[in-house]
Amino acid sequence: MRMVDLIADKRDGKEHSPEEIRFIVKGYTEGSIPDYQMSAWAMAVVLRGLTPRETAELTMAMAASGEQLDLSGIPGVKVDKHSTGGVGDKTTLVVGPLVAAAGIPVAKMSGRGLGHTGGTIDKLESIAGFQVERTREQFLAQVRDIGIAVIGQSGNLTPADKKLYALRDVTATVESVHLIASSIMSKKISAGADAILLDVKVGSGAFMKTVEAAEELARTMVEIGRQVGRKTVAVLSDMNQPLGYAVGNALEVREAIACLSGKGPDDLTELALTIGAHMLMLAGRHETFAQAREHLQELLESGAAKEKFRQLIAAQGGDTRVVDDPSLLPEAAYKLDVLAEQSGFIAKIDAEKIGRASVVLGAGRLTKEMEIDLGVGILLNGKVADPVTAGSRLATVYANSPESAETARREIMAAIEISAEPVERPNLLYTTVAAT
Ligand code: URA
Repeated sequence: MRMVDLIADKRDGKEHSPEEIRFIVKGYTEGSIPDYQMSAWAMAVVLRGLTPRETAELTMAMAASGEQLDLSGIPGVKVDKHSTGGVGDKTTLVVGPLVAAAGIPVAKMSGRGLGHTGGTIDKLESIAGFQVERTREQFLAQVRDIGIAVIGQSGNLTPADKKLYALRDVTATVESVHLIASSIMSKKISAGADAILLDVKVGSGAFMKTVEAAEELARTMVEIGRQVGRKTVAVLSDMNQPLGYAVGNALEVREAIACLSGKGPDDLTELALTIGAHMLMLAGRHETFAQAREHLQELLESGAAKEKFRQLIAAQGGDTRVVDDPSLLPEAAYKLDVLAEQSGFIAKIDAEKIGRASVVLGAGRLTKEMEIDLGVGILLNGKVADPVTAGSRLATVYANSPESAETARREIMAAIEISAEPVERPNLLYTTVAAT
């Protein structure tokens, strides 16, 4: 087999055989296929696409390219959750303990933030002492003991995807629904998931800017799941405005704790209950979605989910006192209010711009090596459609220097639009995609 022929086949719109896909993934991972050939192939895929069978084959070949986590020693259906990334998206911090409190094992590997979106692992590190690195044995033992562990991505999972994603990033070949879908699904499968719940974000702060694009990605991932025997459900949720009110690591942990105490923002609570209920359904725990959701609502109200979060923090060496006293979380030195210049209704809170303002403060990183500042961020004071009066507080900036506070304030002003006319409350949830 010669890579040049496979590139030509894809250029001409032909379908690869499973052997050919495996040859490409193996060759690229091992280095016998050079970057220039792989980029030509990736571009041919962008232009010609992949069939569902090719996409599933590519996913499994990438999942098998490195280590694969074996979760079979943990009893029960292991349902993983993945978000395509957003601003203020602290859902895992709520859904993880919530679902674990319902008795569904949560063995979660999460990422760090990059660019304008945050990462669960950084957020957890704002709890003093919290260890995100665990050996495989410690990770599995903790899930068996308390039903939940959340650690950073470690080991040599999906090296083919790591290499290909880095190449796509610099060859204008990220924008292929088939390559994105196989990249995401390969990581979930190698992390040991039996079933997968995908939170596909839609809007200005998300990778997918339109419902149509997000739905296509969701359908492609659900189809991969069907082909490879992993039940997969995708929920499309809004990312035109940040989720909840808090953006920034410690601020988001504080909001997640409020949510676990039954006092969270409506949108975060609703999304967590929806995602959690789908996870319970995927695990075969309930007959109907309504029953699953009601069960989770009870676990929030009874304090069982919050208790599970406390157990998670204790098991990973963190300071559990933050659960009852979030003021122990790191807090920035300066607070600066962002005030409305006119009365009216909030028409827009551009999630991407708010995310970028949080990066200015140091809450996120522009390169993988950058250190982040856990105490800084933005606390919004309203959501789209809320009324405001001139001079009222739109947001508070938490900063560690007056200069960064002022820059962020200006960026937040540019991100928020106020209309004189009432504005309709936007959707939080668009649609759910499941295999038929
Ligand atoms: N996220 C991923 O993990 N992979 C992609 O290809 C794009 C977004």
